Amino acid sequence: MPEDRPQPRHLVSIDDLSLAEMQALFEAAKEFSEDLTAHADRCPGRIAASLFYEPSTRTRLSFESAMLRLGGGVITAADMSVSSASKGESLADTVRVVGGGYADVLVLRHPSEGAARLAAQYSPVPVINAGDGSHEHPTQTLCDLYSLWVERGRIEGLDVVLAGDLRYSRTIHSFAFALARFGANILCVPQGGFELPDYVMQRLREEFGVEPVRANASKMGDLAAQSDVIYMTPQKPHQLSLFTDAKGWNVSHVDAVYMTRPQTERYAEGEGQGTEYLQLGKSALAADSLRDAVVMHPLPRRDEISAEIDGDPRSIYFKQAARGVPIRMAILAALAGELPILDAPPAAGIPTYPVVEGGNPCPNPNCISNTETRHVGAQVALASRLPLRVQCAYCSQRLPVGVVGCRSSRRFHDPASPGLRPVRPEQMVFFVDAAAAERAGYAAASAAHPV
Ligand code: NCD
Repeated sequence: MPEDRPQPRHLVSIDDLSLAEMQALFEAAKEFSEDLTAHADRCPGRIAASLFYEPSTRTRLSFESAMLRLGGGVITAADMSVSSASKGESLADTVRVVGGGYADVLVLRHPSEGAARLAAQYSPVPVINAGDGSHEHPTQTLCDLYSLWVERGRIEGLDVVLAGDLRYSRTIHSFAFALARFGANILCVPQGGFELPDYVMQRLREEFGVEPVRANASKMGDLAAQSDVIYMTPQKPHQLSLFTDAKGWNVSHVDAVYMTRPQTERYAEGEGQGTEYLQLGKSALAADSLRDAVVMHPLPRRDEISAEIDGDPRSIYFKQAARGVPIRMAILAALAGELPILDAPPAAGIPTYPVVEGGNPCPNPNCISNTETRHVGAQVALASRLPLRVQCAYCSQRLPVGVVGCRSSRRFHDPASPGLRPVRPEQMVFFVDAAAAERAGYAAASAAHPV
């Protein structure tokens, strides 16, 4: 792990920003958008490096345009396959090099979940996550929230449909967390078999009190006819019973439909084949509940949004893409310390601990912790103490815990055992099962040795 040094602010997850900070970013973006050419005195001499291990059009170009419009410069590794990554250089080494004087901020896109978190542990300068596998894409979310805020004047209380591949779309995951935090309601219209991943649902439930209920989507027309619609509100779950009947929550009005493409590059062989993908066209938009819903899409689109609705005033996806520039100007200026809205110290986040010999690795094969094994630091994040729930600090997937050891007593316990209560989190070691704990030299707690 890198030596101790003051941590710069990073933007790895949408959770790294408070609601007040996001609001301040929207206001700055609005000001920038009034004349994009009038802010070249904001970041002169600053350099952003684009490190893209995956294809991109909008995210990279809007970041680079944003830095140039702020008066800074950009250096680009738009195709990391022609960089030293192809010689086997680790991500941890690459960000130490590029962040060590070449650039003042790193914009990173990577196919592995958790890559930006790992990069942030090693980079001396701020890291911006421009998409890590199917995990998160916080700056797209800021662009999406900013768009909603401009179009609707608020985010709280809006009814937002998330449609399409909700499983692998990283834009959806960051967006769902942010919508819940802002107090918006979410209507999931997933492509069959591509529902929100468990770790996202779990968090929505545990942190936001969201209880998914079936929605009566008869007023949602064609779009809902192709999928089971689920309604989730972070606001008043106790009141749901007043508004739902046997047919579920009645959808009468939708503020925004956010469509996503099938993320085929992340599918296992055969996955998603044989079923038709959801479609948003003229007939779907004729539904009563969508009469004034804005239609959003992070782009690129394939066929899920038909070109026949491009001219409809409700279709704002190209405006949404254009808003990527002012919002990324605000993000870059803030992280470069040239827009005083991020003056709070970095959020502490949930506590994380190293995995010990014999401890459980992340079960997600696409997690960066399974490829950059030499550089993995504190990997176990204690998301909840009671009930005990631990997750991978990189990709957020739940880590299976069969037994929990105590480092000082070298005893292990069932996760629900009262004997575990006095054990401080920093003393805990998590194992897949008792056999793994025994192999690591731990013994079962007993009546004679309860702790
Ligand atoms: C998205 C991405 O890369 O996750 N694109 C983008 O950044 N606007 C969405 C996608 O690829 O489907």
